[in-house]
Amino acid sequence: MADIAIVGAGHVGVTYAAGLAALGHRIRVLDIDGARLAKLRRGKLWFFEPGLAELLTRGIARRRISFTTRYRIALKGVQFVFVCVSTPTTPDGSLDDSSIRSAFDQIKAHAGNPPPIVINKSTVPVGTGDAALQIFAQTDIKVVSNPEFLSEGRAVEDFFRPNRILIGSRDREAARLVANLFRPLHRRIVLTDSATAEVAKLASNAFLATKISFANAFARIAEEVGADVDELSRTLSLDPRIGPGHLTVGLGFGGSCLPKDIAAVEQLARRFGASYELFAAVATINREQRRRIIDFLLKTWGAIAGRRIGVLGLSFKPNTDDTRESPAVALVEELVAHRADVCVYDPAVRSAVRGATTVRTALAAARRADALIVATDWPEFRSLDLARLNGTMRGNVLIDARGVWDAARARELGFTYYSYGRGGSPRGTS
Ligand code: UDX
Repeated sequence: MADIAIVGAGHVGVTYAAGLAALGHRIRVLDIDGARLAKLRRGKLWFFEPGLAELLTRGIARRRISFTTRYRIALKGVQFVFVCVSTPTTPDGSLDDSSIRSAFDQIKAHAGNPPPIVINKSTVPVGTGDAALQIFAQTDIKVVSNPEFLSEGRAVEDFFRPNRILIGSRDREAARLVANLFRPLHRRIVLTDSATAEVAKLASNAFLATKISFANAFARIAEEVGADVDELSRTLSLDPRIGPGHLTVGLGFGGSCLPKDIAAVEQLARRFGASYELFAAVATINREQRRRIIDFLLKTWGAIAGRRIGVLGLSFKPNTDDTRESPAVALVEELVAHRADVCVYDPAVRSAVRGATTVRTALAAARRADALIVATDWPEFRSLDLARLNGTMRGNVLIDARGVWDAARARELGFTYYSYGRGGSPRGTS
């Protein structure tokens, strides 16, 4: 069993702390935010992630996880240091690696002897692994790149059952030692160099973003020719060369990874004159999804000002309270900018959007609304009784921006129903 420090108590850091503790390791979690750590110490998360609080609590109860704000304490006697700090987008689209660099400097200053292996989990500008080698050049500290592929809302499952574990390093021995940490998971481990690992992470998220925008671009065509986008996505998914997942048409992608990473890839491609237009188009298509809803409302009503609009969902996807880069939030902001009277309900998000009213139930959002919009596909929205909604709304516009309702049924009930490329043809395959 190893002693491991984890730098950064965010989504990734806390998931790895709880997961590695469950595998039997002793973990010290470091963060500069003492209040955040105080909460974690009590087994409470500062974000929403199914199953993680329980796993964390178990690790703490077994005395396998402790917390500190001090590098000297975190690094004492550890064999591994996972760096899980954030890398936000800079104004030109590239990734800001200042937190990573500062973590490397601190590790260099406080590492014990024998020196630990530093494992970088954050999504970083390509070349960070080599830059780290320079930073640690005068020391015996080894560096390994091990990008994370955790998906929010299913991070615990992704920790224990990753579809691949990517380890990049020029140092074969260091890579082998890091690989050993994950061997009990019995999952596929890919050993490569650090640049390949760094690019693979960006490429993976850029591909997912491209798949979503591809599906959304086809929704536009489907709409014009009367094809059904859900049947289309299902058919595409059946081809193993295309594969399932990330083909659901909707309001677009958000979150802390996909928008940031597609911007970083575009910036990287621009730097080398390498077909950056592809990645720019992915981001443009994503933004257009919101505009299409605004256009639909304008076409239906002539003006949006003064209309009462209920919006269901604010998080960037279900099973999380994360609103970073959420298309739902951006849509609400645009509706507010059009001077609509917007009423929002989300099962997990507690923060409000300026200019919009927050309510506690989906029905409250629908009450006396001229239009109701599903902006995030939380499971509870699927089971809403459309007839009941019809009774509580004053208007009849239903915008299903995540494809959660049956188009034919909504139209039967007299709703003016819009959902990208879901014209209401009968569902099901035979
Ligand atoms: C993503 C990657 O999946 C993960 O591997 C990586 O480590 C981090 O980025 P995450 O940001 O948690 O994970 O979200 P993901 O499930 O990929 O969804 C991203 C966005 O795309 C969400 O806003 C979601 O609503 C949207 N989406 C997803 C679609 O619009 N259509 C789809 O078919 C799938």
